[in-house]
Amino acid sequence: MALAAVILAAGKGTRMKSRRPKVLHPVAGLPMLHHVLRAVQDAGAQKVIVVAGYGFEQVKEAVAGQAEVVCQEEQLGTAHAVMQAEHLLQNFEGDILVVCGDTPLITGATLAALVAHHRNSRTAATVLTTELENPYGYGRVIRDNSGMVVQVVEQKDATAEEQAVKEINTGIYCFAAAGFFAALKEIGNANRQGEYYLPDIIGIYRRHGYQVASYRTDNPDEILGVNDRRQLAVVADLMRRRILDELMLSGVTVIDPASTFVDRGVVIAPDTVIAPFSLIEGNSVIGEDCRIGPYARLVDARIGSGVQLMQSTVIEAYVADRAVVGPYAYLRPGTRVGTGAKVGDFVELKKAIIGDGSKVPHLSYVGDAEVGAKVNIGAGTITCNYDGEKKHRTVIEDGAFIGSNANLVAPVRIGRGAYVAAGSTITEDVPAAALGVARSRQTNIEDWVTRKKGRKGHTGGS
Ligand code: UD1
Ligand code: CA
Repeated sequence: MALAAVILAAGKGTRMKSRRPKVLHPVAGLPMLHHVLRAVQDAGAQKVIVVAGYGFEQVKEAVAGQAEVVCQEEQLGTAHAVMQAEHLLQNFEGDILVVCGDTPLITGATLAALVAHHRNSRTAATVLTTELENPYGYGRVIRDNSGMVVQVVEQKDATAEEQAVKEINTGIYCFAAAGFFAALKEIGNANRQGEYYLPDIIGIYRRHGYQVASYRTDNPDEILGVNDRRQLAVVADLMRRRILDELMLSGVTVIDPASTFVDRGVVIAPDTVIAPFSLIEGNSVIGEDCRIGPYARLVDARIGSGVQLMQSTVIEAYVADRAVVGPYAYLRPGTRVGTGAKVGDFVELKKAIIGDGSKVPHLSYVGDAEVGAKVNIGAGTITCNYDGEKKHRTVIEDGAFIGSNANLVAPVRIGRGAYVAAGSTITEDVPAAALGVARSRQTNIEDWVTRKKGRKGHTGGS
């Protein structure tokens, strides 16, 4: 049977104190809304509609290609929000999931279980509930003597007796599409908040003689909503732990989960070890048998297998198999470190292709450069890629040897197997197998020190 999903995301999220719409605040590297999108997709929703309002254009852009977006101009309540999706679901036959965009911990598995329960019980609506030790603020689930759900009472409308109920409405439901929008239209706003409450549909269905079922989840963490930035941190921490658990169960060693941050979009192969205080962000991909960290930060990085990457920052760069990077290396976008290459301490690479087996062991800046295989770049080497107006390329061919503290003024090419003498400022190409020397010759002035001291003695010195 077909499944659609409506995600409610029109609220401003006033308590976030933010210009950014609440559902776009990131959790584990993705907007909250994207986690919810993923959950409804995992549950099998083929048609997904996001109801946006505050920051409509931003929300629309954020979900482009993943969901249709409708606008709720004024936030008149959750029932009114769902109503905005009516025109997109007019001819839809099947079931409709309704979820909130600010509950990023909800999983596809729980939503799928809700849908399965709904379909087995053949009811008009099924409410996802859970029990909370402290149910304050949530709608309470009120049942009759036979245990059937009769209504949900909002905190502000609840009597003392109702407030004692610990079973709460998670705000997540599954509805049969047939008759759904007709029932929604019967919902009024005669309540403390003057809002059209979606859960009021339960009473309407019952009045029409339809049953309403409920499905209880034992995992209340999944329905935690984010209203302010403290809750954002709580939810982000739970998400972080969940991601690390998944990684560890899939064969990745995380030495210290408390100090390790891995975004949702990251992929890490088995037998890789993540050492403490490491952040792996965006869509980074790491192969097997690597050792990452301690103190590594990777953003949209691609790391091969058997790589050792210590205490370094890698942003939109690629490190091939068995390369050794760091400590204190900074790999910037467009960089590619070849198989078995070594990039050592205090080395910055930008748009640099470092060939297989080449070494940049210490204290260098290599930018806009193409370095061949088996090249050795001595300490302190700088590619002078910028003339104040334009960037220029440096090419260093296979097997070249660059002596320490060389300046390679681009555009320049060092030929295959050529040497550059230490301390040279190279402004012209060095042909293959040649030695490029560009420095003044050393002169030693004999007895200079003795003579100087003698002079000082003569004048009394100072
Ligand atoms: C809602 C439920 C409550 C449940 C709780 C679970 C209602 C009336 N109450 O309360 O029973 O326990 O969720 O978290 O539904 N939204 C819109 N447009 C609106 C109003 C809300 O898009 O006009 C969106 C909000 O952005 C939010 C979601 O719907 O993502 C829930 O709205 P909110 O006002 O937070 O409802 P709660 O008071 O939390
Ligand atoms: Ca809420």
